Amino acid sequence: MPGPSAPPPPPSRSIPPAPRLPPPPPPPGSRRKPTLDPGRDEEPSAREHQASPPPVSQRSASTGHTVALAVSGSIAAYKAAEVARLLIKDGARVLPIMTRSAQQFLGATTLSGLCGERVHEDMWDPAFAGELHVDLARRADVIALIPATADLLARLAQGRADDLVTALALCAKGPVIAAPAMHPRMWAHPAVQRNVALLLEQGRVELIGPVDGDVASGESGLGRMADPAEIAAAILARATRRDLTPLKIVITAGPTVEDFDPVRFLGNRSTGKMGFAIAERAAARGADVTLIAGPVTLPTPYGVKRIDVRSALQMRGALWQAMGPDLGKADALIMSAAVADYRPASEHATKMKRDGNALTLELVPNPDLLAEVGAMRGERSPVLVGFAVETDTDDRVVAAALNKLETKRVDLVVANHARDSFGKDDNRATLVTRGSADVLGVLTKRDLADRILDRVATMSHR
Ligand code: CTP
Repeated sequence: MPGPSAPPPPPSRSIPPAPRLPPPPPPPGSRRKPTLDPGRDEEPSAREHQASPPPVSQRSASTGHTVALAVSGSIAAYKAAEVARLLIKDGARVLPIMTRSAQQFLGATTLSGLCGERVHEDMWDPAFAGELHVDLARRADVIALIPATADLLARLAQGRADDLVTALALCAKGPVIAAPAMHPRMWAHPAVQRNVALLLEQGRVELIGPVDGDVASGESGLGRMADPAEIAAAILARATRRDLTPLKIVITAGPTVEDFDPVRFLGNRSTGKMGFAIAERAAARGADVTLIAGPVTLPTPYGVKRIDVRSALQMRGALWQAMGPDLGKADALIMSAAVADYRPASEHATKMKRDGNALTLELVPNPDLLAEVGAMRGERSPVLVGFAVETDTDDRVVAAALNKLETKRVDLVVANHARDSFGKDDNRATLVTRGSADVLGVLTKRDLADRILDRVATMSHR
């Protein structure tokens, strides 16, 4: 095990979901003294009065997922509120639980207010008839331990049931996800690493992070809690129906840019949001996803393999690598990238100098990547999805999409208007196949991604 001078890498995430576990032994009669993970000495917030919030049904249209979100005592606890907010925004129901030490860092009112649920803190809550940990475990599709302190990891590794959170984790009927957060020297300590190794060996807890970065003490290193958005995506991925298993889906996203000297390039306005949303949803629904991305700054969605490229020719190379020479490595290709149709005929080795004269740049056509795959594939596999971005009237957008269906030999074209799509979080699209044009209206890119993937699922199982 590496020592403090060489902090260990974050553990593997490829832990299978936990199978159904037997209920825990009866909890001991006395509660354990709460322990805080040391971080920067910070004034703990006063314990807040718990509000009685409106029911969840008034807050979000539930997607049916229920997440038990257990917060333990680390300065990163405040980020658990953001994780809860993101889960609820996605339509999940969140059942909040806090250890006693977590309440030194985050007010229960904040969590109950966000979740629209009472915060559970006490295994021995006299107001609850029955076994609280068993009841919460039964209702939760996923149990999320956010953040997970060194102490919590130790107790989980030992299989202890000395508070509501550990008893709940032992009783899980589905996946348990933990996001460790602690000072890098704590994370690198052999005792913590031994507990992490034990947990990974048991395969009942999946760790997200920690990541390298700034920690509360002002130092930097491996121990910072993963980003709340990444944690929320991982939790939702675990809770989502996995109807795309075991499909292998290759997705392209973003622009390609074509260099003409070491500092200048030809590009376009694509931001990659649509392709990244498709990759995120496909992975969440169980597909094996390879995302080939042009130069964009978006984070890699959870569970997605990413290949970064720059030019159309590089994207072509990555496509063949991902799909195989006979396309046999992919069940579907979704080409959402805005591939440059032309590239400069030559690239200057040094920066081109201004000389006051007009400059003519000679462009040569790039290969049409989607059409190449379309020309090569067999009757129905892989399923091919293209995009058509137009600046014309809606009728002409659909007509152009129909034309692309034929010329590129693809199964589905997502037709949209440049004005409605580039750089936005939502899009107004029409799904065009040979027999139909399904006008979807304005949807978030995530929802549109799901609609496209619904079609891919149907077409690849036919
Ligand atoms: N595409 C491709 N290779 C290219 C250009 C485009 O694979 N060299 C793919 C895109 O990823 C997209 C679809 O083809 O799925 C877009 O087709 P394209 O003919 O480029 O349409 P637009 O650029 O939208 O419009 P135009 O027909 O005006 O070029």
